[in-house]
Amino acid sequence: MIEDPKSFAKALCDWYRDHKRDLPFRKTKDPYKIFLSELMLQQTRMETAVPYYERFLRRYPDVKTLAESSEAEVLKHWEGLGYYRRAKHILQAAKTVCETHNGVFPEDARELETLKGVGRYTARAIASIAFNHPAAAVDGNVMRVMSRYLPFEKDARKTKHMKEIERILAPAIEKETPSDFTQAMMELGALVCKKNPLCGECPLQGECFAHKHNAYDRLPVLPAKKPKLEESYYTFLVLKDGRYLLRAQSANDLLSGMHLFPQYRTDTFEEAFSRLCKEYDLNIDSVETLGRHKHIFSHKIWRMQAYLVKTREGDGDYYSLENAPALPTAHKKIVSSVKK
Ligand code: ADE
Ligand code: SF4
Repeated sequence: MIEDPKSFAKALCDWYRDHKRDLPFRKTKDPYKIFLSELMLQQTRMETAVPYYERFLRRYPDVKTLAESSEAEVLKHWEGLGYYRRAKHILQAAKTVCETHNGVFPEDARELETLKGVGRYTARAIASIAFNHPAAAVDGNVMRVMSRYLPFEKDARKTKHMKEIERILAPAIEKETPSDFTQAMMELGALVCKKNPLCGECPLQGECFAHKHNAYDRLPVLPAKKPKLEESYYTFLVLKDGRYLLRAQSANDLLSGMHLFPQYRTDTFEEAFSRLCKEYDLNIDSVETLGRHKHIFSHKIWRMQAYLVKTREGDGDYYSLENAPALPTAHKKIVSSVKK
C-alpha cells in the first residue's frame, strides 16, 4: 500500500514535469501516435526507437494511411528494430481501427486490449496517456520502482503481481493527471530508479524502503532467466549479377515475414552447400568465407558461418540490397563483411 497516495502522486508528477525528456510522442495526444510509440518502446531502447518513430510517422501519418499499406512495406519500415511481429500487429490493429471503429481509436483500456499487439500494459498506457483514463500501466520499469519503494517481494514478472501493483497505484493515479502519472512512473524507472538507482535524484527517496534499507540489489525479485538456445547455421550470400538470393521466412518461424539469406543447420559445410546447390540449382563460380557471425535474440543465439557464393545461374529470387525486402539485422550485418 502507498501510505499517502496524494503526496506520492504529487512528488512523482512534479518531478516529471521538471525532468521529463523532450520526446516527440510527448507533444501529442493522438492515440495513434501514442500507440505507435508504445509498440516501438516495448522491446526497444529509447535512442533506437525515436528515429524509427519519426520516420514511420512521415510515411504513415495516420491510422488510415497505415491500414492501407502492405505488410512487406510496413516490415521494411521496421527493418532493424527487431521483434518484427510488432510490425505485423500494428498493421492488423490499424485495419481493425479503420474497419470496426470507423478509424477512431477506442478510449477504454479493455477495448484497446482487443487490438492486435496491444496487451494489458499497452492498453492501459494508451488509455491513460492519450485519454487521461486513470488506468495504471505497469511494465518492468514500474515493477522495479514499486518493488523497491513498497517493498514488493514477489516475482515481478508475473501478471497477477503486476495487477496487484496496478491496484496499489490506483488511488495515486486518481489524484493526478493520469497521462503525467503513467509517463512519470516510466520516466523515473528509465532515468533514476535504474538497475543501479540514483536515489539522490529521486522524488520518492524519503518513503522508499529499498533506499532506507539499502535493498535495491535484491529488489525487484526476478527469477533467473533460462539460458538462450543456441543454433548454428551455414549461411550463404549467393550473388548473381550483383544481386543476392533471398527467401521469405515461413510463418511461425522466428522472423516470419522477413527475408533471409538461405541458411542450413547441418553438421558439416559440405551438407549445407550441397543442399543449397540442389535447392537453387546453382552453377557456382566461386566460394569464399565471410567468417563467423553471431546474433543474439531475446530467447535464442544464432551462430552463423557465412560464405559468399558467386553463381552464374540459379533459381530463387535475387535482389539488389537497395531494393530488397526487409532483412533482419542478424543477416544485414553479414553484408558488411563482403569486400567491395
Ligand atoms: N517506455 C515505454 N513507454 C514509455 C514512455 N511513454 N515514456 C518513457 N519510456 C517509455
Ligand atoms: Fe528507486 Fe532509489 Fe527512488 Fe527508491 S529512492 S524508488 S530505490 S531511485
